[in-house]
Amino acid sequence: MLKIINVVGARPNFMKIAPLVTAMKCRPAEFQPILIHTGQHYDAKMSDTFFSDLEIPEPDIDLGVGSASHAAQTAAIMKAFEPLVLQEKPDWVVVVGDVNSTLACALVCAKLGVKVAHIEAGLRSRDRSMPEEINRLLTDQIADLLFTPSRDADENLRAEGIPEKRIRFVGNIMIDSLLKYLPLANKSTIRKDLRLGNLDYAVLTLHRPSNVDQAQTFAGIVEALEEVGSLLPIVFPVHPRTLKMIANLGLTDRVSNAPGLCLTDPLGYLDFLELLSGSSLVLTDSGGIQEETTVLGIPCITLRENTERPITVEMGTNTIAGSDPTRIIKAARQALNKNPGTSSPQIPPLWDGHTAARILDALIEEQG
Ligand code: UD1
Repeated sequence: MLKIINVVGARPNFMKIAPLVTAMKCRPAEFQPILIHTGQHYDAKMSDTFFSDLEIPEPDIDLGVGSASHAAQTAAIMKAFEPLVLQEKPDWVVVVGDVNSTLACALVCAKLGVKVAHIEAGLRSRDRSMPEEINRLLTDQIADLLFTPSRDADENLRAEGIPEKRIRFVGNIMIDSLLKYLPLANKSTIRKDLRLGNLDYAVLTLHRPSNVDQAQTFAGIVEALEEVGSLLPIVFPVHPRTLKMIANLGLTDRVSNAPGLCLTDPLGYLDFLELLSGSSLVLTDSGGIQEETTVLGIPCITLRENTERPITVEMGTNTIAGSDPTRIIKAARQALNKNPGTSSPQIPPLWDGHTAARILDALIEEQG
């Protein structure tokens, strides 16, 4: 029997841990899962909704750390997590993704000599100004088992000198959640609630500090949105960080008056998946949404200069457009003018809904 602490902290962690915890609960003779929420995200719309939508059991413990500077948040998670690991003495701690909670908990375990598995290992944007890139690099150096979503991630790890025996290509766990919940998501009334009817529409998400924390960059993106919004309505579920920055940077009037731009609160998993799956175009600076649009076959314009998920460009529907308004508008026009069926995006290998089962088998095998 393996006692496993599974860690979640922020919104993009929930759809990655859900299939894993569910799969562990289905194999009670082999796994004793414990779920720890660090509390990095705490608003109902950033956290609780995802637990109910994804049928994740209540966390066994919520560390309740909340928001702070990177150093203060990372330190608070470490201080709260260490006594818990000492008390529970797990066989493994599983961390997912690239948020501060991922690195903080991995670091605690590395120092205590407790084994850590990292899911979504090996992704690299090669942009160290991105806080997530630091979290990815360091977590992968100290984790014992690295579960990768794509072969390029394996290559990145090898290039950093990670021994082969620590690397396991298992596919993309987020897609387990997507494939499981898509039929249920399609029952959501979100499109009716937003009065979209049968209109073509785009979906926008924006929260990277590099896009929303500087007036000039954010204003340039708004300029592009004013243009794209004149072609089709854009639904924009606004992240709390972004909402704050719209006000701080004096962009409230422009954003409110941009033609076609429809702001909503952050959406739950099922509503958002339904919104994505019915859209004609997605504009985003998220990592996970680049992957979800690839599987759904929806054109995605990534508002960043790079991606740690190149497979979504090579095989999928993703175009990297940065934050320059001219490039964004051009990419949007191209995506909207493309005749359906002229390109044939593919679904990357092992993005098949069975990644959680492969991870569980690997953990058992590792135990010997
Ligand atoms: C974090 C992750 C990022 C991920 C994103 C998804 C890190 C370094 N960043 O960024 O990788 O893509 O989550 O959302 O871990 N806030 C609320 N309510 C909440 C949570 C946050 O209002 O429930 C506000 C706070 O003002 C906070 C700000 O959002 O200061 C930023 O939150 P934080 O967790 O620091 O980073 P995110 O930008 O959400």
